[in-house]
Order: sequence, then structure tokens, then C-alpha cells
Amino acid sequence: MSQVLVASNRGPVSFSLSEDGGLVMRRGGGGLVSGLAGVVGAAPDPGPPRFPGPGRGDPGVLWVCASLGDADRAAARRAPEGRLDLDGHDIGGAAVRMLDVPADTFHRAYNGVANSTLWFVHHLLFDTPRVPHFDARARRDWQSYEAYNAAFADALARDAAPGAKVAIQDYHLSLAPRMLRDRRPDLRIVHFSHTPWAPPDYYRLLPDDIGAQVLHGVLGADHAGFLTGRWAAAFLDCCERFLPGARVDRAAGTVTRAGHATRVGVHGLGVDGDALRRRAAEQDVVERARALRDQVGDRQLIVRIDRTELSKNIVRGLAAYRELLVNHPEWHGRVVHLAFAYPSRYDLSEYREYTAAVQRTAKQITDEFGTPDWDPLVLQVNDDYPRSLAAYRVADVLLVNPIRDGMNLVAKEGPVLSERGCALVLSREAGAAAELSGDALMVNPFDVSQTAETLHRALLMPRERRAERCARLAAAATALPPRRWFAGQLAALD
Ligand code: F6P
Repeated sequence: MSQVLVASNRGPVSFSLSEDGGLVMRRGGGGLVSGLAGVVGAAPDPGPPRFPGPGRGDPGVLWVCASLGDADRAAARRAPEGRLDLDGHDIGGAAVRMLDVPADTFHRAYNGVANSTLWFVHHLLFDTPRVPHFDARARRDWQSYEAYNAAFADALARDAAPGAKVAIQDYHLSLAPRMLRDRRPDLRIVHFSHTPWAPPDYYRLLPDDIGAQVLHGVLGADHAGFLTGRWAAAFLDCCERFLPGARVDRAAGTVTRAGHATRVGVHGLGVDGDALRRRAAEQDVVERARALRDQVGDRQLIVRIDRTELSKNIVRGLAAYRELLVNHPEWHGRVVHLAFAYPSRYDLSEYREYTAAVQRTAKQITDEFGTPDWDPLVLQVNDDYPRSLAAYRVADVLLVNPIRDGMNLVAKEGPVLSERGCALVLSREAGAAAELSGDALMVNPFDVSQTAETLHRALLMPRERRAERCARLAAAATALPPRRWFAGQLAALD
């Protein structure tokens, strides 16, 4: 039985099958995992938080996650009672329980509901008349989403010690807090949203019953956490508009319904500067940074690093780079744009099509401007973490222009690792804007021309000014390290 439990769709590790049929373990990816993996481990830590029993051999923290594929399912079945002991791996002493959710249920819940529906609503990605489209198939997907959330609630209810704290993460698990409260009213539950929350006029695109169930589900928690005040306020607005009987007290930041109060709080997430710098000083990163410097020479380097994700707005970012080259031919031969667009959610046709659009746009730019001795744009689509860290080190300008983003840790990691003091061109729709807008160059992500001119300004900015701004950005980026963020969620339950 555990005193502290974490639940998320993607866990700290995942498995693949080697050629001889053995299981190969890899660290899980993504912002949520990066944020959490460092805090639930047993690594010695000078600062907060302190939660019960994270010592080696005493996995005080249990991380419950889904099996994402067949290899994960095989690992879950092989582990004693489904519990993987990962002591000694880089997530420290936490134990992991991988739920063996049937593949079809997982697919419908993850791809059908979480990523096609809830993700699209919260990121304002709907593109009528194609989506939204709530038909009989969507209803079946919704039932799978309920079953998937129930599987988490069952596992958490079984493994939680009396009065334990349970931190349920993200839009995949918006029903689980309520289901868990129904099973175990003694537990203290926090739900944390890593995405934005949709404003009411967008949220109402959801069928009424589904929209209400999601809100009702999250309100099963004692505390609902968000990355910025803007997303928290949107959640309160939706509760007020769509949940009959809910009493929203904005001054207190609470929603009360049927005698149960949920406190709504803002917990910004930054990066662990020391850990990041240590990783970026390792040999594989150093070698890649050297190779990048050789490739770019004395040209200026504009870097972007994203999953190939519709909300990241990569196509408009490339269009802005093209407009920069059209309007300012003085940069020809003097700048290179390095765009890392890593594969994501390839099961969804929208993502496959978006990936093709990114590649098409990149090729057009190369064909239009490239010369035998100048590659204006380098698009890399194979995921390589050390190469991303190397790009942060050598960037002159970092472009982060999402349509909408819960936080965006690229905007924070870049300034921390920058060697030359990079300029940050940042979308005003990223959660990170709340903390970084003073020193970033802000853009409206839909305004391609403005983004192009802002890239121009960033390239022209004197080195000392860039470096001063970058130092302040790095300080802001490390002010809320993951440990403090997670401690804040647990402390809110006391
Ligand atoms: O909340 C956003 C998030 O869950 C992050 O953890 C991560 O950056 C991304 O989405 C990963 O998505 P997926 O698990 O679908 O690859």
C-alpha cells in the first residue's frame, strides 16, 4: 500500500521487443514524464518536497500508468502483481504499475477521446466541417474512455494506503478522480491538467452530457491544478456555465457541488536547471553541438524543437521563416533554420497529414532559396534527445510559436542551455508566456508576417542585449523546478 500515488497515461518507462524477443526498457517521453520522473525518484535532494518514504527499497511512491503497446502489456504481465520495481533506474525508487488495459479499449480512449476530442477542444483545434463529429462511433469511444478511467480508479483504490495522496494527471484521466472518490472517500486526490483548458464557447462543442461528465469527473478531486491562471479561470468559467448546481467562488478559488468543494490552484512548471545542464555537458551532446557548429559555420541559427503536433503551429512557423527570406534577402546565406519535428500520435490521420504538410512546406523553402553552398532549412524528423540539447546550446534564436500550449518547456529549456545567449521568439498563447513575456519577443501565432518581422528583430538584436535577456529568461525558467511544482500539488491536499 502506498502513501503517495501518481497516475498518468504515459509512464516513466516503456518497453519494446528486441530481435530475440526480449523486453527492452526505455525512459518514457513528453513534458509530463520529464516533469514527474525527476521528482518521484529517490535521488538525494537538498530542497523540497518531502513526501513519505521515497527511500530505496521502500517505494513510497507508486506510479500507475497504461500499457501503451504489446511489449508494455507483456512487461506488465511478467511483473509480480503487475508492479515493476525500477529501483536503480533513472526514475529512482518509485514502483510502477502498468495497467494491462485491452488494446482496443486503450486505442479508443487514447486516440478516440483523449487525443482526437479533448486535446482538440482544449487547444482550439477544431476545424469544421471535418471535426467535431460526435456519432455512434464516438459514443463507443467514450465508453472505452470510461472503462479506461475506471481501470485506473480500480488500481489506485486497491493500492492506496488509508488517507493516501493521489496525483492524477491530465486529460486522459479526467473521470478518474470522481471514480476514485466514489471507491475510496478517505483518499486525498489532486487532478492536474498539463494542457490549456478550453473557454466556454469552445467547450460547448462537446456533447452536453460528455462536457458535464468531464467537469464532474475533475471535481471529484479535492484540488484541481493548472499550469497558468488563464487555464484555471477557463475551468471555473466552464463549471459555472455547464454544471447545474455548481457554486463557483472566484475569490476563494473553489467549486462546490453536492457538498464537496474542489479548490482550484495554479502550479507553474519550470525546469531543473542543474540536472539539465549536467545532461547537456555529457559527451554525446558535446559531440553533436560540435557537429552543428561545423555545419552552420558563422551563420546565425534559428532553432525550433517540437513534437509534430498540430497545436505547435510548425507550418506557420516555416511560413514565417520563408517570409523573412522573401522580405529580407540580406539574410540569404547568413542564417540557417534548424527545425526538429519529432513523430507524434501517428495513429491519427490528422497527425499524419500534418507531418506531410510540414515536410512539403520545408521542401518548398529549400527548393526556393537553397544554393549549392547554403541550406537555408534543415528539417530533422527522427527523435534524438542529445541532438535537441545540442541545438539549444548553439541556437541564436529559438522559435516557439504554438497556437495554444499548456506551458511549453522548450521555451524554458532553451535559454537555460544557451551558450551564446539566444533570443526567444514566443507565442503569446503558450502558458510559458505568463512567466517569460518580459524578456521574450512575443508574437501572435496566427500572424505569420509579425512572426517573420520578429525573427528579423531577433537576428538583429545586439549580442549583449540578447545575452542579458537570455539570462533573465533562464532565471525565470528555473524558478519553479518540477520538485516544487509537485510538492505544491501535494501540499494543496493538506
Ligand atoms: O499534457 C500534454 C502531454 O501529455 C505531455 O505530457 C506531453 O508533452 C504530450 O502531451 C505527450 O503526448 P503523448 O503522450 O500523446 O505522446
